[in-house]
Amino acid sequence: MPNNQPSNIVFHPHSVDKSSRSRLKDQKPCILWFTGLSGSGKSTIANAVESMLWERGKHTYLLDGDNIRTGLNKGLGFSDEDRVENLRRIGEVAKLFVDAGTIVLTAFISPFRSERQRVRDLVEEGEFIEVFVDTPLEVCESRDPKGLYKKARAGEIPDFTGIDSPYEAPESPEIHILNDRLPIEEAAAQVVDYLEKKGYLNA
Ligand code: ADX
Repeated sequence: MPNNQPSNIVFHPHSVDKSSRSRLKDQKPCILWFTGLSGSGKSTIANAVESMLWERGKHTYLLDGDNIRTGLNKGLGFSDEDRVENLRRIGEVAKLFVDAGTIVLTAFISPFRSERQRVRDLVEEGEFIEVFVDTPLEVCESRDPKGLYKKARAGEIPDFTGIDSPYEAPESPEIHILNDRLPIEEAAAQVVDYLEKKGYLNA
């Protein structure tokens, strides 16, 4: 335990708990953890999945890299250390959403296997669903929606994932999306089908 841990903190059990909240929402809460390179389509697919779940009356929340980095994680950069802290905070926030009975979608590059595993370990068995948005670097780079690969190749952005900072692909993700040519709706349907089959869409 870190030595800056405050003492005399007692975790308080609440009478309205995760299972009562999840029954009320008629769903099993979980984290859909999208991982993949910048430009792979994580946010776009996560957004489409959230819309499909909303149409089915499910309670969701989408935590998205670029947005979180302007608020909660403002000030964190892209060194290995900052990425670890970025993901640690997201993991804790996602866990709170799960406790709230929500299906939480996260869209972060999350390049390190160890950090994704750390989030998996924070929640219960079956509550962490790793979604690998597997788009080859060449494809991400040719799309270059934010013009960042061009800048990174020109040496204007240091530590850019896939260029001079590593991306460790998941070894056995629960959902593997080959997002080379797949239409967004089909990619999103793959995720919703998984949730349906595994019983997440009912309490
Ligand atoms: S993570 O590695 O810590 O998980 P995160 O998903 O929050 O990254 O942020 C990635 C987004 O930040 C990219 O989609 C891109 O828009 C932007 N970005 C800016 N600098 C970098 C960089 N050096 N490496 C990767 N992405 C970067």
